[in-house]
Amino acid sequence: MATTLISGGTVISAVGRREADVLIDGESITAILAPGQAAAFGIAADRTIDATGKYVVPGGVDVHTHMSLPFGGTEASDTFETGTIAAAWGGVTTIVDFAVQNTGTSVHEKLAEWHEKAADNCSIDYGFHQIIGGVDEDALKAMTYLVDNEGITSFKLFMAYPGILYSDDGQILRAMQNASESGALIMMHAENGIAIDVLVAQAIARGDTDPQFHSLTRPAELESEATHRAIQLAKVAGNVPLYIVHMSASGALEEVAAAQHAGLNVFAETCPQYLYLSLEDQLMQPGFEGAKWVCSTPLRTKHEHHQSDLWKGLRLNELAVVSTDHCPFCFKDQKELGLGDFSKIPNGIGGVEHRMELIYQGVVAGEISLERWVETCSTTPARMFGLDKKGVLEPGADADVLIWDPNGRTKIGINDKHHMNMDHSAYEGFEIDGKVDTVLSRGMVVVEDDTFKGRKGHGQFVKRGLSRYLH
Ligand code: URP
Ligand code: ZN
Ligand code: ZN
Repeated sequence: MATTLISGGTVISAVGRREADVLIDGESITAILAPGQAAAFGIAADRTIDATGKYVVPGGVDVHTHMSLPFGGTEASDTFETGTIAAAWGGVTTIVDFAVQNTGTSVHEKLAEWHEKAADNCSIDYGFHQIIGGVDEDALKAMTYLVDNEGITSFKLFMAYPGILYSDDGQILRAMQNASESGALIMMHAENGIAIDVLVAQAIARGDTDPQFHSLTRPAELESEATHRAIQLAKVAGNVPLYIVHMSASGALEEVAAAQHAGLNVFAETCPQYLYLSLEDQLMQPGFEGAKWVCSTPLRTKHEHHQSDLWKGLRLNELAVVSTDHCPFCFKDQKELGLGDFSKIPNGIGGVEHRMELIYQGVVAGEISLERWVETCSTTPARMFGLDKKGVLEPGADADVLIWDPNGRTKIGINDKHHMNMDHSAYEGFEIDGKVDTVLSRGMVVVEDDTFKGRKGHGQFVKRGLSRYLH
């Protein structure tokens, strides 16, 4: 097995930083050494990577992606092949994507379908959550089976999208009771979809068809209301661990914080789009441009301090994780499906490549610490979702490493750094005071010298354990 020494860098973990060298043997980390210790012990690695002046951090873990997701009559434009290459370019070494079951389909068959999409196509490691879009007896049985046998320990339910993925409160309660028995975690898309559909129909009838009405028909109150309801249902179901996905609204965050203060296993993630983008600056761009930023939950108004509350939530650990909800659609032919009717615009923003960069810029701006960057983007998502060998640099962990250059600079944009399979960038023109330098996935260099050096098929499916983040 080849050995690699990453020397001279500053190793950052969720709890601190120190000058140290990282010794890798094959696919695993074998030691974290004080500077000079490798030479003193006579360790001569096959390869040394000089990380002088750079940060050495665990590779990014993005627990919310949708490669090739069928949605709104089309399919997310990144495949597992293109999306994991883009992820690697962004310092991400593990994704957890979503297999999708809907009413009348078999969980087992759908999971097999997703395995087929991903197998031999990924250049970084991947796992799956299972979406249960049709809660019935068979789906409930399958949930238990997946936890016990398939390394799938988290299930996403939808309070939105009636008729497509929506579960009513009774179905949600039953799925939560099931998860409570098996030890699984429930992920919730918390928006009141029944009320939203009324507002959408009224807007269309009025002729309010532009992209901005996507946000205006999904008011923040309907995110808070659904979040509150999900928390109460989780409590009734025996305090099942509940994780609210893609949180965008202050009120919803308050519900989560209150549940945490009450000692419940309630957690939440937000995504870079909710920290940086808004109704006014993006969705309200002239003509149909705003369609690029149609996603659910939606971008919020700048005038209600959602963004600053979300940053604060990250500092206070009310928000434990930053994921991307990477769900890219090209403007041409895909977003354009909603020309003249915002409700037909496929929902999603692509960002798997830029999460580490954008959240690092939050460190530069003084919003969070370097350690918190590592914690929210790597360590906690790994612990939350039972990825036992990911998210840390310590002996025995997978050698998934991001070497970050704080003196580098990254310009994001379709003609700059952009490797996702989409014809625009949601973050066009953003500049980052730092840069992905080198990325290793299980000991293999996948990005170096501004070159992708990975290999399709190197990425393996990771069976996950139960969440290790619970109180
Ligand atoms: O707009 C979004 N979020 N698209 C992906 C599906 C989902 O609800 O996560
Ligand atoms: Zn969702
Ligand atoms: Zn999603």
